[in-house]
Amino acid sequence: MEKDWWKKAVVYQVYPKSFQDSNADGIGDIRGIINHLDYLEDLGITALWLNPMYCSPGIDNGYDISDYEQIDPIYGSMKDMQLLIDEARKRGIKIIMDLVVNHTSDKHPWFIKSCQDRTNKYRDYYVWRDPVDGHEPNELQSTFGGSAWEFDSQTGQYYLHQFSKQQPDLNWQNSKLRQAIYKMMNFWIEKGIGGFRLDVIDLIGKNPDTMQMANGKDLHRFLQEMNQQTFGKKSLMTVGETWGATPEIAKLYSDPQRHELSMVFQFEHTQLDQQDGQGKWSIKPLNFYELKKVLNKWQVGLNPTGWNSLFWNNHDLPRAVSAFGNDQEYRVESAKMLAILLHLMKGTPYIYQGEEIGMTNCPVSSIDEVNDVESINMYHEKKNEGFNDNEIIRLINHRGRDNARTPMQWKGDQKYAGFSSQKPWLHVNPNYKTINVDDQLRDSNSIYNTYKELIDYRKKHLLVVEGSYSLVDTADDVYAYLREMDGQKLLVVANLSGKDQTLKLDYGVQQPWISNYNIEKINLNDYKLRPYEAFAVEIH
Ligand code: GLC
Ligand code: CA
Repeated sequence: MEKDWWKKAVVYQVYPKSFQDSNADGIGDIRGIINHLDYLEDLGITALWLNPMYCSPGIDNGYDISDYEQIDPIYGSMKDMQLLIDEARKRGIKIIMDLVVNHTSDKHPWFIKSCQDRTNKYRDYYVWRDPVDGHEPNELQSTFGGSAWEFDSQTGQYYLHQFSKQQPDLNWQNSKLRQAIYKMMNFWIEKGIGGFRLDVIDLIGKNPDTMQMANGKDLHRFLQEMNQQTFGKKSLMTVGETWGATPEIAKLYSDPQRHELSMVFQFEHTQLDQQDGQGKWSIKPLNFYELKKVLNKWQVGLNPTGWNSLFWNNHDLPRAVSAFGNDQEYRVESAKMLAILLHLMKGTPYIYQGEEIGMTNCPVSSIDEVNDVESINMYHEKKNEGFNDNEIIRLINHRGRDNARTPMQWKGDQKYAGFSSQKPWLHVNPNYKTINVDDQLRDSNSIYNTYKELIDYRKKHLLVVEGSYSLVDTADDVYAYLREMDGQKLLVVANLSGKDQTLKLDYGVQQPWISNYNIEKINLNDYKLRPYEAFAVEIH
């Protein structure tokens, strides 16, 4: 296997709970994924990142793992999982497992034993501290609200949880714990998987006493050790989730000389509609010029030693077309624009399930419709602070994680969008009648087919994978860049806004590879871009 195969890959993310239910219990499952492998092969993707399907009480939809080496029965069995790995391989698709090793579930046997007394051998698998003056050891806050410390009355100490209290943090300073994790990773590697997506990996070097949680001093040492003892010897792809990465930090992870990870997810562009430093629930309008600046900074900044991941959305973020485009009047145009802009950049692109058909956010009108632990905790916190229901629901509709988690929209003419024959675990977006896979497969002009074409260009032109990148000077709300290699030149232009824009570049009249307004020829010397218009042209 080619060592850097992932540089040429396009990754598709499946949120298994919402992809396809094969046994009529309203919950997506492994057989459901297998049933759609032909669809994914047709789209052209070559790797599949699966959100966690290990045994879990499901407090955080599988990110609270109680057994790393078993499949949760709601998703199927280990036999199903092996079948998925094998069937995917036959179609040229590698399976990327989600590795959640910053924390476990409080129902994991390690934690249950850790709680028994202060001297057992699992005590140090987790992070325990004495009370200070009868209170929490310090002010550390959980990402999901409230203190990051929970008191255990049986042993008289607090344990650390950066997420919900049912997700106790593992203690990476303990080498026995690290060895146990590597062993588990090798168990999965032996099954023939293609790699790992490493959940909140920048937190494992944490020091709760100094309150430095992300980018702790031992982080890179731990990753080098992990690399050496697990995936380093194989041609596996690894992508770390690193909310705290800057381009400089991202290069530390992804420089091949350092033997850490293939690449990381950075989130700077997904936070531009937040007020500075005030967290995800403080929203402001997106500024297109800022978006261009940030994406450009990462394209330039990771060169030449680092490698970018390219994505608009995932299971934690609002839908791409709702967050960055216009999910009403220009839904189709803006969804295609986002695809063209991102998929011709340098890096490995990721598609989140439903993005390829332009699925949108799914607004709710009451907290009773909300499933996500993060949104529910935030709701109660804000209620206590005196906010009214409407204000909080508005925030949830804008940024809540359920937006991305509603069931995949396969069919327009079946109840529950063809996701299941039974009432699904989370409501289906009512727009499935007009936004669904079936219709788009039949329409050669669909968003789906734009994605398919873009993936194909990446396969056929090494320029898209390896060509240099440079920004082209244009109006603020227009993003244009050049990719170049061995004399071949590709110009990508995207109007990020819903307003007309003028483009004047000295490149004459050219024929596009791809465009979202179906144009045959473009006079680049003087061109009027329509709302969200985008194209890519090879310059001759
Ligand atoms: C990551 C996951 C998210 C989860 C959190 C805690 O951010 O993507 O879904 O809630 O980690 O594991
Ligand atoms: Ca099911």
